Amino acid sequence: MPKKDAYPEVDQILQSYGSDQSSVISILQDVQKYYRYLPADVLTYVAEKLGLSEAKIYSVATFYDNFSLEPKGKYLIKVCDGTACHVRKSGPILATLRKELGLSDQKHTTDDMEFTVDIVSCLGACGLAPVLTVNDKVYPAMTPEKTTALLNELKGDK
Ligand code: FES
Repeated sequence: MPKKDAYPEVDQILQSYGSDQSSVISILQDVQKYYRYLPADVLTYVAEKLGLSEAKIYSVATFYDNFSLEPKGKYLIKVCDGTACHVRKSGPILATLRKELGLSDQKHTTDDMEFTVDIVSCLGACGLAPVLTVNDKVYPAMTPEKTTALLNELKGDK
């Protein structure tokens, strides 16, 4: 069982919502913002603090696509492969990212935890296709060349 004060940042988040069960989604959003994912031991801790079962908190954490139970890199790159982006050639952009970062459809995060590449079905910016986001910043009308330049820029920004 986690120690009472094992997660001071999580305690602060819980307090800001009055440890109210009905705020569980907002609480998990803030926890994810802090850790960039939902660590299993923290989920157990939050469940205990809110008086929820682990099954219940996992059902919330797995229901919403935006929650991740896997660690994410410092730069979370989401490549849109919705229809508009797909027809405007999102495939070569994804291929460029995976090639440059040594990732694949099995491996989404670099070993140094700098980059995660995920595929999403629509980022809601179809007019700007093909689109990717880096930590929610939108990069419109991407090409493989622009993708390489962007990666180089991000790699320099450590
Ligand atoms: S299909 Fe890519 S933003 Fe909508």
